[in-house]
Amino acid sequence: MTQHARTGEVWILGATGRIGRAVAQRLVARGLTPVLVGRDGERLRRAGARLGRGDEVKVVIAGTAESIAGHVTRQRPAVVVNTIGAYAETAVPIARACMPGGHYVDLAADLTAVSRLLDLHQDAIAAGSTLVTGAGFGVLATEAVVAKLCEDRPPPSRVRVDALASVATEGGVMGHAVAATVVDVITTGVRRYANGHPARTRMGADPLSLALPDGQTVKSAGVPSGELLAAQRASRAPSVTVTSALVPTAPAARAALPLLGVLLSVPALRRIAVRRMARTPLRTAPRPRLHSWGHAVVTWPDGTTHEGWLRADDGMDYTADVAAEATARLARGEGRPGAYTPAAAFGPDLATAAGGTFILG
Ligand SMILES: NC(=O)c1ccc[n+]([C@@H]2O[C@H](COP(=O)([O-])OP(=O)(O)OC[C@H]3O[C@@H](n4cnc5c(N)ncnc54)[C@H](OP(=O)(O)O)[C@@H]3O)[C@@H](O)[C@H]2O)c1
Repeated sequence: MTQHARTGEVWILGATGRIGRAVAQRLVARGLTPVLVGRDGERLRRAGARLGRGDEVKVVIAGTAESIAGHVTRQRPAVVVNTIGAYAETAVPIARACMPGGHYVDLAADLTAVSRLLDLHQDAIAAGSTLVTGAGFGVLATEAVVAKLCEDRPPPSRVRVDALASVATEGGVMGHAVAATVVDVITTGVRRYANGHPARTRMGADPLSLALPDGQTVKSAGVPSGELLAAQRASRAPSVTVTSALVPTAPAARAALPLLGVLLSVPALRRIAVRRMARTPLRTAPRPRLHSWGHAVVTWPDGTTHEGWLRADDGMDYTADVAAEATARLARGEGRPGAYTPAAAFGPDLATAAGGTFILG
């Protein structure tokens, strides 16, 4: 084996989790048999058995980002899908372990994690690796609409994107990966682009009530998420804001969020909060609205405004579809070297290949 030779394997990190299991099923449906990576051998083997590939499914047991990175360096899979969360810490070491020549996909939602992974762009080009961050509903459903609205037009002056996920809840507990994402988003503090520069604003800013194309309504408010960076890169607009339907819009909750953000920035308090939140019981519940929507409003210097939507069904199912589609493309060697958000890597039509529908004004 030369130094750059890869095994052709596709690894799913966090393969016992909700997204990990869903991505594994989708890859099997596309004719790929993924390697399942996690921290509990028995649960991994059960997840493998559910894929219907008999003994063909290989498992790798690794309990931390460091040990996963070590396995990736030694065993050289072709593509690694990271669903273990805490992406601000786990994404860079694991993506680096994929280089040279291996490819990487994650589902980061927080701004810090997305920006750290995109900072590996030059290293990824030199290594011939494609790194895709934010391969989930939020980033793709909004950046794809922005990219479509800005196609063949000069840079706009202002963009607002709204990530309006509707997600069914599985019974059980929240789990460490999701708890870490929630805390990371709260502690980033809201950011926006104003006059071409990142600026801080209050978490829960810009509360909105939006009428959706299917006749339902949804509330959303400002959030510091990876969607901001993706929308700014797709549009090159000097002013960009992001809202999300996952941010509490009740006045008392919005008032408490900034203080919570300061408290949870203390590492010891963050650890306690993530541990406690991870144990939060969740009741099985259907998704609250018919569809998940990505929405963008783009305004040009002469005042012209265009609005567009991307419709998907359940936000979690769509996230798994996006991650699986991006992974299958990388496994077929269809990525360009570099570090990208998903529409930047594969074009906005990745959003329809994953099952979404554009409604463009
Ligand atoms: N960008 C988006 O649009 C989007 C959408 C949905 C989800 N997400 C993100 O995707 C991630 C996965 O979500 P999920 O619902 O699948 O969570 P989940 O059900 O809790 O699954 C997480 C998986 O990662 C494993 N894991 C967690 N921490 C680990 C560590 N330190 N080392 C090794 N394995 C670890 C868990 O193993 P155990 O079972 O042993 O705990 C589990 O298998 C979360 O970060 C979530 O925020 C993003």
